[in-house]
Amino acid sequence: MSAKREIPFFNYSALFKEIEDDVTKCVRDVFSRGAYIMQADLEAFEEELAAYAGAKHAIGVADGTMGLLLPLLSMNLRQGDEVLVPSHTFVASAAAIRHAGGTPVLVDCGADHLIDPRSLEESITSRTRGVMPVHLNGRTANMSAILEIAEANGLFVVEDSCQALGSRFGGRCAGTFGRAGAISFYPSKTLGCFGDGGAVLTNDDDIASWVRLLRDHGRAPDGDVVAWGFNSRLDNVQAAILRIKLRRYDDYIRRRRELASLYHSNLSGIPDLALPPAPETEPDHFDIFQNYEIECSARDALRAHLDQCGVKTIIQWGGRMLHQFEKLGLSSRTQLAYSERLSKRFMLLPMNTSLSNDDVQYICDSTRRFLTTRAGRALGN
Ligand SMILES: Cc1ncc(COP(=O)(O)O)c(C=O)c1O
Repeated sequence: MSAKREIPFFNYSALFKEIEDDVTKCVRDVFSRGAYIMQADLEAFEEELAAYAGAKHAIGVADGTMGLLLPLLSMNLRQGDEVLVPSHTFVASAAAIRHAGGTPVLVDCGADHLIDPRSLEESITSRTRGVMPVHLNGRTANMSAILEIAEANGLFVVEDSCQALGSRFGGRCAGTFGRAGAISFYPSKTLGCFGDGGAVLTNDDDIASWVRLLRDHGRAPDGDVVAWGFNSRLDNVQAAILRIKLRRYDDYIRRRRELASLYHSNLSGIPDLALPPAPETEPDHFDIFQNYEIECSARDALRAHLDQCGVKTIIQWGGRMLHQFEKLGLSSRTQLAYSERLSKRFMLLPMNTSLSNDDVQYICDSTRRFLTTRAGRALGN
């Protein structure tokens, strides 16, 4: 048995150390230029991000939530208009729909933990105006099925790609399938900044102009105020730092996929454990592994065991799907059976580029030991 390790869920200090010299040089440069708001670094980052994602436009905004809200505001939702969104997501997805004037209606997820096209189709009524697929954990939802349903029913698609920059379905990046997609640069995201940050991706010139207006108090380039807007700009210094990280982004993703392969080869075949698909196993999907979300019926006992072994894990959304936040009063038209079951079983193992192969091996050994012993006990061995 290997010696006990301490493996935090996320290690901000180690990740900062990796790029400390470049970041401090960049911050000194931006500050000495006094370039804080809507400056050249932001413009350059927006161009580079758009090129990276294969989108016509990328617009920096204050955070991923505003990245959802601002394009949704251009959909002119009226009271009673419904937008379908999975129950397995962060509350920000539904909040953006609500703040844009719509009613979020919850849809079930499937075994991939993403919006289930069948539940989506069954949830459509005459009041449904749009759908918000959420590309959770760095995996793009089945966008051919979703776009087909949306087109057949005249629904708009705004993608929550906050966890999925650079993940692809059929070779196309998350956030570029619908009218617009939102990206989050929250510090623990695959492309994280040093505070809050976000972006909108879109191929639609009108939505791009609208988001540019709304993020800056509704001001047009000539200074006229043409809409009631917000202060929702991505800080220039964050954009400058994100440019440095975007240049390394393919390496970050490559490493995450290596770690996911390692998890998969070491955890496959363990009783009572469901894993995300391994990289390279499905031709349509290129996953970036923002998270490594597993399912286990002994979830709480496994977490407690890993904690004793020094391995910190977390459960997204505090273990509650959106339909389980009763005070929000959200409804659904279909059973949310998978989401309900998942809420008792899902958890995240550590996944970030500060992990060594030995760390992952240790996490897998600790997991295997616990679950196989438990299964043996259940069989009376
Ligand atoms: C699925 C999902 N949607 C929306 C958001 C909101 O992003 P932000 O925290 O940048 O506002 C997040 C980020 O945590 C997220 O994970």
